[in-house]
Amino acid sequence: MARIGVLTGGGDCPGLNAVIRAIVRRGIDGYGHSICGFRNGWAGLVRSDRVELTQANTAGILHRGGTILGTSRTNPYGVDGAAQAVKRTLALEGIDALIPIGGEDTLGVARRLDLEGIHLVGVPKTIDNDLAGTDFTFGFNTAVQVATDAIDRLHTTAESHHRVMVVEVMGRTAGWIATYSGMAGGADVVLVPERAFDISDVCSRIQRRHDSGRTFSIVVVAEGAKPQGGGQVAREERDAFGHVRLGGIAVELEKEIERRTGFETRMTILGHVQRGGTPTAYDRVLATRFGVAAVDAVAQGDFGQMVALRGPDIVRVALEDALREPKLLDPALFEAAQVFFG
Ligand code: F6P
Repeated sequence: MARIGVLTGGGDCPGLNAVIRAIVRRGIDGYGHSICGFRNGWAGLVRSDRVELTQANTAGILHRGGTILGTSRTNPYGVDGAAQAVKRTLALEGIDALIPIGGEDTLGVARRLDLEGIHLVGVPKTIDNDLAGTDFTFGFNTAVQVATDAIDRLHTTAESHHRVMVVEVMGRTAGWIATYSGMAGGADVVLVPERAFDISDVCSRIQRRHDSGRTFSIVVVAEGAKPQGGGQVAREERDAFGHVRLGGIAVELEKEIERRTGFETRMTILGHVQRGGTPTAYDRVLATRFGVAAVDAVAQGDFGQMVALRGPDIVRVALEDALREPKLLDPALFEAAQVFFG
């Protein structure tokens, strides 16, 4: 019997509640553990803000988006004394092992704590799907489905008005959401951060398409995409992990495509809609498998690991390997998407 701590950090993501529920069910039913939830990411450990997780207070959350624990982008290594406060809380609460659920930032903190002797097992989470070591993160499938539904809807209005529609999706420095939703939604152009785009090329593709009789086009752009010789569109301020806030490339594209081609153009920025709401069945299953596997890893004392999906299997990878560099878009996937460009 052990006492396990759980937290959700970074941007929220559909499937977080499914992981929490799985940890509680596996931990209590399977091993007789007790489960302590920390609120709002690492902030909960800094401030000792905790809640006892039980089957009763985690019932009925499988299908709910967001996280019942709350989240934040708090970085305990960015504030004097905060990392010590985390360790103090772990000792005071008698936590034998911690399961942080998060992306590269949350798990980066976990890795440092692991090096300092804290027992933990990470669970990978991000809609961006940019974590190495796992084929997919939960949340990605839901984000792609939301973006695809939006593209489907934009298709009919684009067609009626004979317009070019530019749809901006999330993904930070990776083009996974853009490429998957672009392929699923039949986009005519997909622009991703991994390949700087040439605006003349984008416009001539649209022009060629319209010359051949089509009267509308769909352009999917990742928030981190940038033109050749230019930079990403971002706000100045940075979060506690040093990331700028991306967004707005679709505004530039709307103006530039209309100016160069003369076709009426409209843009839509999907933003946080992609992260909200109920997870798809795929994400619920993946999140549940990750939660169960994380508790099993704790039971075997296999710390410093992250649970991951490899093919059909749930495996463990060293946090160090998973965090070495982000997982960028597979070039072969993008080449397949390109077959369908205008
Ligand atoms: O990492 C997930 C993500 O949704 C990115 O796609 C996006 O750039 C970022 O988080 C947005 O962060 P925030 O919720 O702080 O606006």
